[in-house]
Amino acid sequence: MPNGNYLLKFTILCLGLITSMRVSAQKLTKISPGEVWPDDKGEHIQAHGGGITRVKDTYYWYGEERRQGLDSNKRYVSCYASNDLMNWKFKGDVVQMTDPENLGRHWILERPKVFYSKKSRQYVMYFHLDNAGYKFARVGLAISEKPDGKFRYLKSFRPLGHESRDIGQFTDDDGAQYLIFEDRPLGFHIVKLTEDCLGIDREMCLIPEHMEGGAIVHYKGLYYAIGSALTGWRPNPNQYATAKSLEGPWSEFKDIAPKETNTYGSQSTLLLKVTGRKDTTIMFLGDIWKPKTQWDSRYLWMPVEIGDGKLWLPQPEPFKIDVKSGTAVKAPQ
Ligand code: DGJ
Repeated sequence: MPNGNYLLKFTILCLGLITSMRVSAQKLTKISPGEVWPDDKGEHIQAHGGGITRVKDTYYWYGEERRQGLDSNKRYVSCYASNDLMNWKFKGDVVQMTDPENLGRHWILERPKVFYSKKSRQYVMYFHLDNAGYKFARVGLAISEKPDGKFRYLKSFRPLGHESRDIGQFTDDDGAQYLIFEDRPLGFHIVKLTEDCLGIDREMCLIPEHMEGGAIVHYKGLYYAIGSALTGWRPNPNQYATAKSLEGPWSEFKDIAPKETNTYGSQSTLLLKVTGRKDTTIMFLGDIWKPKTQWDSRYLWMPVEIGDGKLWLPQPEPFKIDVKSGTAVKAPQ
């Protein structure tokens, strides 16, 4: 008969083995667009309408935290960290905020984007701050000294006095940082941030198109801007335009995917440029919204075909990305 001590040691050994098996089982070797995307704890990533900020070799993914059971008076922004873009470690909710501007019970915090200011050495989060009727139409700002620290609410404003709802982020190759925002009366603004990222330096361009989910990438001497039409949570054909300078002139907007697929059911949130030793991959990052079960909203990340003024989002399928070489390939079945 084994004694109690032996049984205890055996149980501890088994638990250890099971835990290590679970950890190794969680290592992902591909991105599967539209599927549940488990984080390091095996839970579906909650970073909707998100943005990505790279700090050295670490990518930080910030987004709307919409898991079930949260305090309905608060709004949350989650932060995840990754070195390979496939495996994401949950760093916690870096924003847990109660209504900062007395906007009422159904106040809105959407589409957080984080910029790093080299000048102030601060991380500055912009987000869409609104009331239930989307009439406040401002950006809110929160700051932190660490990418995964607690962000403190600072202020809200209308960029250059304009209405601002969906926002996007863009960092150019020279390090200059831009905010993209949707202004219902006028269109799609691209504005340069001040060096401390706490305000707007100047307007680069106003594209007189009504587009949400704005994103920009600079690739081989051309700027590509994408956005979606204004159909609430329902997907629509996202489109792109190109320009040699952020100031324009911008080309006509064209579909990024077969029109009938409504961008394969997704909406743009970012264009991520992954430059490695060998290749540069541009990834479309989008949300597949599930408005009635928002916690289950999915992500559509997919490398785009890009070049010579054309951008195309191919049929989504699982892929692998190697951030060191910059190469993305179809994942083996
Ligand atoms: C579309 C926007 O892109 C989302 O962020 C959200 O504001 C929904 N509209 C709300 O209907």
